[in-house]
Amino acid sequence: MPDVASSTECRTPTLAVVIPTYNEAENVSVLVDRLHAVLAGIDWELLFVDDDSPDGTAQRIRSIACKHPHVRLLQRMGRRGLSSACIEGMLATTAPYLAVMDADLQHDETLLPEMLRRLQQEPLDILIGSRYVAGGQMGDWDAQRASMSQWATRLGKHLIKADVKDPMSGFFMLRAEVLQDCVRELSGVGYKILLDLFATSPRPLRFLELPYRFRARQSGESKLDEAVLWEYLLMLIQKWVGPMIPARFIAFSLIGGSGVFVHMLVLWLSFKGIGTSFLVGQSAAALVAMTTNFFLNNLFTYSDMRLRGRELFRGWLSFVAACSVGALANVGIASWIFEANSLWVLSALAGILVGAVWNYAVTAVYTWKRPKAT
Ligand code: GDD
Ligand code: MN
Repeated sequence: MPDVASSTECRTPTLAVVIPTYNEAENVSVLVDRLHAVLAGIDWELLFVDDDSPDGTAQRIRSIACKHPHVRLLQRMGRRGLSSACIEGMLATTAPYLAVMDADLQHDETLLPEMLRRLQQEPLDILIGSRYVAGGQMGDWDAQRASMSQWATRLGKHLIKADVKDPMSGFFMLRAEVLQDCVRELSGVGYKILLDLFATSPRPLRFLELPYRFRARQSGESKLDEAVLWEYLLMLIQKWVGPMIPARFIAFSLIGGSGVFVHMLVLWLSFKGIGTSFLVGQSAAALVAMTTNFFLNNLFTYSDMRLRGRELFRGWLSFVAACSVGALANVGIASWIFEANSLWVLSALAGILVGAVWNYAVTAVYTWKRPKAT
């Protein structure tokens, strides 16, 4: 493979270190100092991708950049997401070697020079900082977090054909061509960018894992919450069903399915329990199911663009309006097909499909409206 950076005409930095940040104001300055020390002698740049952190991380980065011209900032508005931040950061540089690491000083930056040297000299595509090869360590994770990580690791290994010991690692360095070869097919959802790269690359990646000790966080807190696990499952499903069906639609449909249980429960309570008329029970059930669906979608399907405060009420109204029309379309289509062929299961499924696609498409635009969603 030709080494772009070794050509004398090429003035681009050799290495770009991409660092996603969300509320890391207290960590960025120490991190830049450490990288500065460890990367002496290498032509490098540092690209922070900040999702408009409320703690003013971006402002802190700007003031650091006054003294460190290597430091660049990509500040994203109205967006959240670790994977998409890493991808966009890697696309915002022309360096031939790209590293990704966390801002919270948990990754061992002293590995970077060796990663670069080996990528330049050996036939490798990607070097991974690993907690699970001999010499690597987990650091101070509690038992629950450790077992969650191991469970997710096992699941992830099924997805990729390579025997990577730490496919969940957020610390790695790769050749830029590897990204360019698969960037259009990456899912970009959630936390697991490395797994995404391995699962998407059109050819097997030549990789090597270097052990390191995962350090304890100094300041700030982890952003890994319940939504992260859900996003991870979504990414696995997305890879499994392929790019034709968007992950959000899958999430939306799974939540829609859960709405059936809510509906039945409320109908039973009011019709059988309180003794309302069927019509009243059915209407109440539909409204409650739409409402729980709305909140679940806001929490999970659109966790990166959650509506809050007054927006929440507007969103709920538009969601109920859209889904009511969706329900009419569902019934209309189903009866129309049923009249033609009398296959009741098929007719019902067709109605449900049309209703679901309608609800998804309309609420994506009117309820969670953002000009360009990931
Ligand atoms: N731009 C952006 N947007 N950055 C984010 C976001 C986001 O929505 N969420 C998290 N980050 C940044 C954090 O500021 C930090 O620099 C890095 O991504 C990792 O986030 P943490 O919240 O510290 O994650 P963790 O320590 O629990 O998990 C890390 O280690 C795991 C094990 O290696 C991550 O690197 C995981 O990807 C990794 O699996
Ligand atoms: Mn961390």
